[in-house]
Amino acid sequence: MEDVRHRIEALRAEIEEHNRSYYDLFQPRVSDFEFDRKLKELERLEAEHPQFADPNSPTQRVGSDVSEKFAQVAHQYPMLSLANTYSEGEIAEFYSRTQKALPGEAFEIVAELKYDGTSISLIYENGQLVQAITRGDGTRGDDVTANVRTIRSIPLKLLGSGENGAESGHYPQKFEIRGEILMPWSSFSQLNEERLASDESPFANPRNAAAGTLKTLDPQVVADRKLDSYLYYMLGETLPADTHFANLQAARMWGFKISDATKVCRNLAEVIEFINYWDVERKNLPVATDGIVLKVNSLRQQLNLGMTAKSPRWAIAYKFQAESAETRLLSVEFSVGRTGVITPVANLEPVLLSGTMVKRASLYNEDAIEEFDLHIGDLCAVEKGGEIIPKITRVNTEARLAGSEKVRFVEFCPACGAQVLRPEGEAAHTCPNHAGCAPQIKGSIELFISRKAMNINIGSETITQFYDAGLVKNAADLYDLTADTLLRLERWQKKSVDNFLESLEQSKQVPYERVLYALGIRGVGETGAKKLAKIFHTLDDLMQASLEQLQDVDEVGAVIAKSIVDYFAASENREMLRRLQARGLQMALDESALAQQTNLLEGHTIVISGVFAQHSRDEYKKIIEQNGGKNTGSISKNTTFVLAGENMGPEKLKKAEQLGIKIVNEQEFLMMIEYV
Ligand code: IVH
Repeated sequence: MEDVRHRIEALRAEIEEHNRSYYDLFQPRVSDFEFDRKLKELERLEAEHPQFADPNSPTQRVGSDVSEKFAQVAHQYPMLSLANTYSEGEIAEFYSRTQKALPGEAFEIVAELKYDGTSISLIYENGQLVQAITRGDGTRGDDVTANVRTIRSIPLKLLGSGENGAESGHYPQKFEIRGEILMPWSSFSQLNEERLASDESPFANPRNAAAGTLKTLDPQVVADRKLDSYLYYMLGETLPADTHFANLQAARMWGFKISDATKVCRNLAEVIEFINYWDVERKNLPVATDGIVLKVNSLRQQLNLGMTAKSPRWAIAYKFQAESAETRLLSVEFSVGRTGVITPVANLEPVLLSGTMVKRASLYNEDAIEEFDLHIGDLCAVEKGGEIIPKITRVNTEARLAGSEKVRFVEFCPACGAQVLRPEGEAAHTCPNHAGCAPQIKGSIELFISRKAMNINIGSETITQFYDAGLVKNAADLYDLTADTLLRLERWQKKSVDNFLESLEQSKQVPYERVLYALGIRGVGETGAKKLAKIFHTLDDLMQASLEQLQDVDEVGAVIAKSIVDYFAASENREMLRRLQARGLQMALDESALAQQTNLLEGHTIVISGVFAQHSRDEYKKIIEQNGGKNTGSISKNTTFVLAGENMGPEKLKKAEQLGIKIVNEQEFLMMIEYV
């Protein structure tokens, strides 16, 4: 009995941890299949041993993706999840259960693809999109309307007219439509390439990329990432039809993207046929799918079937098994990245998986290796799921060859021989020899010269050439290269020398925020650099910033703050920055960038009240004017909104409430003018 209790506790802790990494960090550590298997085991154990019940067990709730950055709104209808199954047998059970609950009635099942993105609820009034809410904990979600507006396949204004709400072709005055926000495979690979190039960690799969994108605070970033959508569920008091299928067809006429891969099935055989067809065919789709959803078509029958606490009885999800293959581990390689992080990669005996030959798999870190107790020659199961690089999901320890060697994490850097470190509480090992380790030096210079950083016109082979010739050991050395030196190198001629020197010269005009990004401080990507630059207007300010001040910057947590402080504490970095500054690189924010003229606030009369974190009140006055708005001192019926900081005056608050004037906080305001 003690064993059961321990197992229950271990499962609860593990599932909570996975929930957290899934919803908050957008980086799942296990496949959905593994997760569901663990949740099901826990559900079974809790049902068999009710004495161990706990209202806070992860079985008692759906995971929550609510974050603090967005306004939270209650869902008018709760956003439920679906019961999951991986077997055709359970589909047959669902079918007969449904038949039993609808005695003597014929029923239809609508089979649809299960799109693997992040769910969204859209509210339309009078043909206009008024609100977009994430699922959150199912009861309350985040208001991500500004971000959703940038997704082109989501209509902001519906086609057709709104008269006679109940007729097809006419949309109801008010309704809700739910669906999935997706990142197509093509946008996903492009985004990850860009992230890898700038040493930001890639998203594990399109679902996490879509969820992460929807939760960024900058609608421009969302727009750039090319999200797509499919809608699959309409709710409201006056819907156009009395079947699910007909409602979706109507929604298609109003301009929503509705999948063509939808079929009204009249018996179980048709359902199974649909499943088998799409299990293969889905691989040719531009977006990720992870299963099939089956729904009773008639809304009346749906109502009769009702819900359980967590999911409707009229629907079920059938999940496709991720394809998996078995192969042997040949060796483990340790590669050193630009920031010194050491990543283990498994070299595998080549095996065919979902149509491609797999030779390598990611092993993440030491903990992953230990968890599998990995030995060279082990027979491993590899899966491809939605991920870019396949992963090892299981190791067959029983088939282990006698006397095989256990895989151990390297103690010394494979590139420079320095002793590697694993800081307390972190999963990754790093090589601390940043200034003397070839892949780190070359990687840093590669980032420095890249298009989005300093945009200097050379490639990685040239960096290797400079490095091998002993000419360049950090970015500042590039600016010391002369025509004479270059002409002595192989493959350099007058023209290429001129081009290179010219692009070095031009890089001196590259704005401060891009220079910051070019430094390659661990954890500071393009967006992070922009945010830092907006708060610390000069490099000197940033160098003097304390851990606390840094953590006040949106999206900078304790780890990144520490990495910034560490970067500036290293004397070789300070010396390099001094040389770059002497060469004339931009080390302060261009004041005109702050001015950023737009007409986004045209016609708005705005009252400022309270204390602000990111800019002074005077700066906000200036910002309002520069964006076409008018700033006044007191609230009247002409006020469009109050820009409110901390401790807004109680009189002003009362007056604003009386007149029904909107209060906008600092973050919302900056988003409004596309400043963040
Ligand atoms: S219907 C009450 N249809 O799967 C029914 N969901 O675990 C609401 N999903 O949260 C969902 N494709 O994010 C439905 N064709 C589809 C779907 C779908 C993907 C997602 C959705 C939902 C989850 C269910």
